[in-house]
Amino acid sequence: MIDNSTLVLFGARGNLAKVKLIPGLFHLDEAGKLPKNMKILSVGRQEVEENEWHSNIKEMLDKKFKSYDKNVFERFIKRNYYHANLPDDPEAFVKFAEKLANKEVFPQNLAFFLSVRPSDFALIVKQLSEVNLLSESGFWRRVLIEKPFGTCLKTAIELQSSIEEHLKESQIYRIDHYLGKFSLQNIMTTRFKNSVLEPLWSNKHIEQIQITNHETLGVGDRTVFYEATGALRDMIQSHLLQMLALVTMEKPKTMSPDDVRLEKIKLLESIAAVPLDKITNFAFRGQYAEGHINGDKVEGYLAEVENPDSVIETYAAIKLFIKNSRWEKVPIYLRTAKRLYENSTSIAIKFKDHDNWLTINIQPNETTSFELTTLQPGLDMNQNRQTTLKGNNRVQGDETIDAYETLMLDLLSGDQSKFLHIDEVKAAWKLVDPIIEYWSNDKSKPIQYKPGEFDPKESKIIFEDENQFWKK
Ligand code: BG6
Repeated sequence: MIDNSTLVLFGARGNLAKVKLIPGLFHLDEAGKLPKNMKILSVGRQEVEENEWHSNIKEMLDKKFKSYDKNVFERFIKRNYYHANLPDDPEAFVKFAEKLANKEVFPQNLAFFLSVRPSDFALIVKQLSEVNLLSESGFWRRVLIEKPFGTCLKTAIELQSSIEEHLKESQIYRIDHYLGKFSLQNIMTTRFKNSVLEPLWSNKHIEQIQITNHETLGVGDRTVFYEATGALRDMIQSHLLQMLALVTMEKPKTMSPDDVRLEKIKLLESIAAVPLDKITNFAFRGQYAEGHINGDKVEGYLAEVENPDSVIETYAAIKLFIKNSRWEKVPIYLRTAKRLYENSTSIAIKFKDHDNWLTINIQPNETTSFELTTLQPGLDMNQNRQTTLKGNNRVQGDETIDAYETLMLDLLSGDQSKFLHIDEVKAAWKLVDPIIEYWSNDKSKPIQYKPGEFDPKESKIIFEDENQFWKK
């Protein structure tokens, strides 16, 4: 049940709002999920007349949807307002608070979605607090903070201490949009609602786990961001470690947000630090060279960022171990890349001794498969082959809700279970920081790999056993 509320979108003229948030809100409205009087106040730096903003919204929707219902469009447009506000101008926030104080227009439960430059997060929270928009007397006030929450442990702690002067933990929604994906939530259902899996779910039977995110896209126009970030920070610190936590954590006492997050925190805190004296056997990095993707010629990373000396990785693979009795000695491989041969995110679990893999495909296919060894029909009774049992986790007619839509609904309904607790964020930075630091001081060139191909063969150096290989 969602209370009547106002969703305030800071960064409303940015790409995320254009491509995901505003079309997502429209889709939620169309599906009847938004309360009748809910309002959306978009905030950007530039002055824009409300009429013009409404035409901008129409353009965003026309781009996203082939067609939509006129009546829903009229209803949606009436929810939408625009306000120009510079994050560093206290005067502007006074006017902003005056505008929002109009109870006839704006329901007073306020959710602030900060889709802005990370360097503005703390500043905006402070400004909102100074005009008394964050105190919860009679109404709730929530702040959603986009990724990344800090750029390392130190800056995450600094950001946290500056926002906690103004907000309680229950008001802070730190986003990892992967948690809004249906397939990630399905990991818990698959694990905890199938008693056949639990007896197998440990080092007694599992040899290794591989968590993969491959993309065909390069860094595109995000060169400045990427040079300051790299694949380890961009994907592994957040999305891949979250997948790891969901696959390996103990069963939460209940499915309440607190209990689910507690188990993820415990798990993330029990991952062993990567030994820096053996780092080459634990972490591998590469950069895409120039080449071809689907027949198109593409530039190499170094040319794109116009920095021939950059050592920032576009491919990262690391090996982790969890220090608890369930997972002791099971290598967990995390890998992520730009410009590989396919777009795919998956979790593959290899059972001991035989060729049995359980694979949970997250995207683009949403399937679960299990590979068994079976006898090949024929006269040769020693001839075996692999049979794959594959199930679709999404079938025709299923509701499709984008990750951001799910997360916006959760924000409005006050459900923090798909958002990160600060202790998860800290544990994740603690793990990746030493590797990032090591890599940034290590001026040896990352391996160059060809676009459109499989993982660079040199990445196999991190395998525990020479018989191991990257699962396709
Ligand atoms: C973002 C990263 O968090 O996730 C991007 O910054 C990446 O580099 C993206 O491309 C992947 O998200 P999705 O939902 O397309 O898999």
